[in-house]
Amino acid sequence: MTEGFQEPGFDDSAWDHMRVPGLWQMEGLRDENGDLLDVSEARFGLPAYTNVVYSFPVDPPHPPEDNPTGEYRREFVLDSVAPGTRWVLRFEGVDSHFTVWLNGTELGWATGSRLPAEFDATEALRAGRNVLAVRVHQWSAGSYLEDQDMWWLSGIFRSVHLIERRPGAIGDHFVHADFDHRTGEGLLLVECDVPAVVDIPELGITDLPAGEPHRIAHIEPWTAETPRLYAGTLRSEGETLTLAVGFRTVRIVDGTITVNGSPIRFRGVNRHEWHPETGRTLDLETMRADVLLMKRHNINAVRTSHYPPDARFLDLCDEYGLWVIDECDLETHGFGPLGWKNNPSADARWRDALMDRVQRMVERDKNRPSVVIWSMGNEAGEGDNIRAMAEWTRHRDPDRLIHYEGDYDSPYVDVYSRMYASPDEVALIGMHAEPRTADAAADSHRRRLPFILCEYAHAMGNGPGGLSEYEELFDRYPRLHGGFVWEWIDHGILQKTTEGPDAGRPFYAYGGDFGETVHDGNFIADGLVFPDRTPSPGLVEYKAVIAPVGMQLEHTPNRLTLRIRNGFDFLDTSVLAFDWRLAADEVPLADGILDLPPVPARTTHEVVLDDLLADAPSAGGEQVLTVRAVLAKDHNGVPAGHEIAFTQLILATHHEPRREPVPIRPQHTAGGWTLGQAVFNAHGELVQLGDLAPLSPRLDLWRAPTDNDRGGNGQERAWRELGLHRLVHRTVDCAVHGEQLVVDTVSRAAGRDGGMLGRWTWTAYDSGDLELKLDLAPVGRLDTDLGDPRHGGGPPQPATLPKLGIRLGLPGGAASLDWYGYGPGESYRDSTRAARLGRFHATVDELQTPYVRPQENGNRSGVRKAAIRWADGRVLHLSAPTGVDLSLRPWTAEAMDAARHTSDLVPDGTLWLTLDLAHHGLGSASCGPDALPQHRLHAHSATLTVRFHAGDTEGAPA
Ligand code: GAL
Repeated sequence: MTEGFQEPGFDDSAWDHMRVPGLWQMEGLRDENGDLLDVSEARFGLPAYTNVVYSFPVDPPHPPEDNPTGEYRREFVLDSVAPGTRWVLRFEGVDSHFTVWLNGTELGWATGSRLPAEFDATEALRAGRNVLAVRVHQWSAGSYLEDQDMWWLSGIFRSVHLIERRPGAIGDHFVHADFDHRTGEGLLLVECDVPAVVDIPELGITDLPAGEPHRIAHIEPWTAETPRLYAGTLRSEGETLTLAVGFRTVRIVDGTITVNGSPIRFRGVNRHEWHPETGRTLDLETMRADVLLMKRHNINAVRTSHYPPDARFLDLCDEYGLWVIDECDLETHGFGPLGWKNNPSADARWRDALMDRVQRMVERDKNRPSVVIWSMGNEAGEGDNIRAMAEWTRHRDPDRLIHYEGDYDSPYVDVYSRMYASPDEVALIGMHAEPRTADAAADSHRRRLPFILCEYAHAMGNGPGGLSEYEELFDRYPRLHGGFVWEWIDHGILQKTTEGPDAGRPFYAYGGDFGETVHDGNFIADGLVFPDRTPSPGLVEYKAVIAPVGMQLEHTPNRLTLRIRNGFDFLDTSVLAFDWRLAADEVPLADGILDLPPVPARTTHEVVLDDLLADAPSAGGEQVLTVRAVLAKDHNGVPAGHEIAFTQLILATHHEPRREPVPIRPQHTAGGWTLGQAVFNAHGELVQLGDLAPLSPRLDLWRAPTDNDRGGNGQERAWRELGLHRLVHRTVDCAVHGEQLVVDTVSRAAGRDGGMLGRWTWTAYDSGDLELKLDLAPVGRLDTDLGDPRHGGGPPQPATLPKLGIRLGLPGGAASLDWYGYGPGESYRDSTRAARLGRFHATVDELQTPYVRPQENGNRSGVRKAAIRWADGRVLHLSAPTGVDLSLRPWTAEAMDAARHTSDLVPDGTLWLTLDLAHHGLGSASCGPDALPQHRLHAHSATLTVRFHAGDTEGAPA
């Protein structure tokens, strides 16, 4: 700490410049020109990531003695200071403890990092030059209350204002704007701490005295779907404030959450504030980008996990329409592993600190229509202090609901809330049949409450899988009001490689990359958008699953129907246009717009579409009908034409009459066999296919484990125990049977007898095609020793497999893929809703999904036809009439498994093609349930059939 730094005359000429708002560890990762530095050269300490545990010794309320401290000085000039005017210095967010001096006079100190703090600056302020000095400590008693799962970062990270308060200025105002859905009336009451009047010209309100209730007919209410705001002012003698009034009424009716008389469904996300370069300091455009991205992906709700966000974010939620659970800046999770001993939530000495936090949140955000639920905090255990927070909040604002997940009995909240409950448990809750809790009174209170999943579907890495199973439950049981996916964004920190010939390649750092003693690795990268806000496949899937308009096509021999379930809570479908398109193997045949009557909110409508296909021309191939619901006009920041939902139906497959190709007999050669354009060696390995010299296909059961595979259920460990990542292959027999070359193989790992038998039947045709029919059958013991008492007991479990298929190596270099199957993005068996049947093109680069920690990705499902094209003109065609899973990548699964960051992945000179019959589901076991039973892949006998054709030919498959 610097002696006398707060004095106006202090010489700070040798000090560094720091951007404010900003977090000093993030700012210090760059030099003064903004270029990224090597971590060893970081200028102001380093970020550190822990999830549950504190990153300092637990010795409440003491912070560690080694306490990084930042001192800031800022000069400003005021032309004049009017007598009688008061001045307030307002800090929107400082992490975690700070003391403020103005012109050498101490104004006070504050904690509560993500809450505003105000200081009376009147006495210290002068006309002319002023010097503001702020000392910020990284650690404080407050840090014990701020153990959220995120980077520990410090500094003045939100803006600072000097506010002039003339006599009669408004100190506090509270807008109550109810809506009566039976009469359509609004009821307005604006409370104010000084005499003031309200003007809302649009409603004909002028000079309405504050404190006087006023009824207004024909109000357009505020909802997240119809975010109608009425602009007005609140005028006192000393100040005029702008108002954005949204009329709406939140109530629990018969155990359901209603707004304006209608039950509501949350299609939500948990949002931390994050930017890969500035951390929790966000500019307005980044906040807007979040809101618009959410709106474009059918998301209608945000839980501000786990602290009140920058207030401007809530302005945007009011404006564009998002339901908000505003959460208090409180988490004491690190006491959990210590048995909750000394937990501040249950210690009266901490009462004031906790109350102060909830009061500052409610007072700051109480005028926002988007906020419908107050959350007391996250993972702060149980205790009377939280009850007291809830009681104060209910008294101060009886018009909103109260949430806190961490006390499972839910005695003082309005909403029963859980995280990561399995679909089975959620179904029980839906039926009010969840297990009892010890206290009968609490049990009966909780059983009457509406339910939300405040966190579910952990979006870490590749996943989450199994979203639609939850959505079906939300549709089925009125008690269930939906949920909030964990979480919105990966908190990766932008870094560049410093070594190797291609140093300077960007990647996103996670826990452990800054040398932390304790850390939680890449558990910080668990969002629906990548750190740069590119949507991940998980977000695209979530959009499809939560689409507010559900459509289902049904075709019987004499009837084609479309069922439309309008899942909006308030809007009818007149905001949408429905278009349709018929194609045969993606060759367009006919299209049009459906003329439908508006379907009211929360109802289902069925239309008969028989006429649609009456005049449609026919063509060979898969006849696919696609219906889309798109926005009919611009809506809440989302442009007209934007797709909200789609559905597809395969009507039929028309086979064009064509000449059946004739098989060609295998020719025995000195080194093996030739089959048409293919050459096999004496082991029955494919060594040449037209102008390609592939690395022969091999059985492939391994995928680079996803974060979910590595999760709590031990999936990855079981797979490694079986040696699926190190299979050894042996050719048992290789012989010509009639027109076919038949190769028998067995694949198993060293030390294991369990594996797969393969019968590879190769047939060449005069069309140039080479067909592989691979019959697979499990062999030996394929259960795992996880049942071994050393691993926790129980009988051996039948193993699951990561996947079931083959891999072959193709020439490297620039290449692309055209395919007819599901796309355009990746899909897996429990994450299929966003994928549509169509014809797609992507470069090899575009086929890879850059999960922050490399892992299995990029699978395209149901691929019927594909063509890999190299820059030099070579082509490999594939066809698999029943569809296969396909991936194409410039590195192996083993390389992805070994890599820690995306920058570790370097093309190895081969293009690796995998063709699979199936994958194990994704699940969300990184913090939640495993793939559901129907999505697990167990070893079984199966047949993979695929045709290859090297070179461009007439009639080639794609
Ligand atoms: C929850 C917690 C979140 C986050 C998540 C896992 O328990 O509330 O903050 O840690 O788990 O990513």
